[in-house]
Amino acid sequence: MDESPLTISLRPGNPGFLSLPWRLPLDEWKNEQVQLEELPRGLSRHPVVFVSEEKTLFAFKELPPGLAEKEYNMLMIMEALRLPVVTPVGHASTHNGGRPFSILITRYLEHSLPYRMLFMRSGLERYRAHLLDAIAGLLVQLHLVGIYWGDCSFSNTLFRRDAGALQAYLVDAETAEFHMDHLPPVLRHQDLEIMEENVNGELADLKAQGLLAGLIPEIPLRDTGAYIRVRYQRLWEEITHEDIITPGEHYRIQERIRALNRLGYSVGEVELTSGEGGSHLHLRAVVTDRNFHRDQLYSLTGLEAEEGQARQMMNEILEVQATLARQNNRSTPLSVAAQHWVQYIYQPTIEHLKALADDQNDPVELYCQLLEHKWYLSEKAQHDVGHQAALEDFIRYYRRAEGQG
Ligand SMILES: Nc1ncnc2c1ncn2[C@@H]1O[C@H](COP(=O)(O)OP(=O)(O)OP(=O)(O)O)[C@@H](O)[C@H]1O
Ligand SMILES: [Mg+2]
Repeated sequence: MDESPLTISLRPGNPGFLSLPWRLPLDEWKNEQVQLEELPRGLSRHPVVFVSEEKTLFAFKELPPGLAEKEYNMLMIMEALRLPVVTPVGHASTHNGGRPFSILITRYLEHSLPYRMLFMRSGLERYRAHLLDAIAGLLVQLHLVGIYWGDCSFSNTLFRRDAGALQAYLVDAETAEFHMDHLPPVLRHQDLEIMEENVNGELADLKAQGLLAGLIPEIPLRDTGAYIRVRYQRLWEEITHEDIITPGEHYRIQERIRALNRLGYSVGEVELTSGEGGSHLHLRAVVTDRNFHRDQLYSLTGLEAEEGQARQMMNEILEVQATLARQNNRSTPLSVAAQHWVQYIYQPTIEHLKALADDQNDPVELYCQLLEHKWYLSEKAQHDVGHQAALEDFIRYYRRAEGQG
């Protein structure tokens, strides 16, 4: 008889989970008094259950002994690097009779969609090309800070709507490695090879099961992995290329930083090295993460959003700043414009949008859709139609689309 003890390690601020049947394998939890939730998910080799505790949802994954702690530690590193990953909550080491196993606990990623839903459900077609870009973008984000994934696939990724596009989140870190100094090109290459094989295999499986509701029109199925690789390479080059700066062109340093910021990337430092003969400089920007507008929005308003959403909202705050400056005939600090925006534009609108929110569309995403709608109506009318008119039209339009869906 195995006498090894049960050990549960949890981050502070979470429920104690003490009433859960820790000695039983996850497959048997449904027979116990555990509040399990049935939610869509990707394919997995290991048992995964979703448990609701103190009004919060958690994902529990059963793994061989020791692996939950390893994956937990990896997720903690990635979280510290400010990467889009599921939030690690804790891990446990236990046994069922003589069979030892471990359990990883993560926060359920709210408002996320597994890829199978995006491919199987009609009505979501317009997100499919974004899904491929989101995977390419996630791999770039990981590689920039020295993470090798080792198992990039649709199933190991979750997708959140982000201002009409998608943000990919890493959900499975079992094979990931952190290379502190720099990720060698050979590992980046290997990650892309694995991604291609996994992605093409997953789509072929969906097709064979007759579950593929339409394709991405412009990309043949078997070229999907190759398409993601091309998008990855383009983005990687855009972010990491070296600029050559000649004397008198120093303004180009700021230009490069701003170009990266526009893509959402924050620049930790720029490296300048003198070229041969010393007349020109090589410029390389060191990117820390892709949270540029999120950080800006958060520090000005305390609001949390995805990067694309935050960029749209920051643009609106800048418009408010310009309008206030015109009205008052003096310059307005950005913080004042941000407070004005929250109080008179954002909050009242969100109150109306809450009625439309559901599992996949949170109010912030609806707010961004409303901004798009306002822009579209204003283009058509050839003048700014204003928030109120756009909101009323958006709610009508949304309800009609829902009725049809
Ligand atoms: N925190 C979470 N939030 C939402 N969904 C989750 C979470 N954790 C896991 N899932 C769902 O469970 C599925 C399986 O998780 P995961 O990929 O970690 O399992 P796995 O058995 O390790 O997979 P593999 O077969 O790749 O080894 C995911 O595709 C995802 O849909
Ligand atoms: Mg997996």
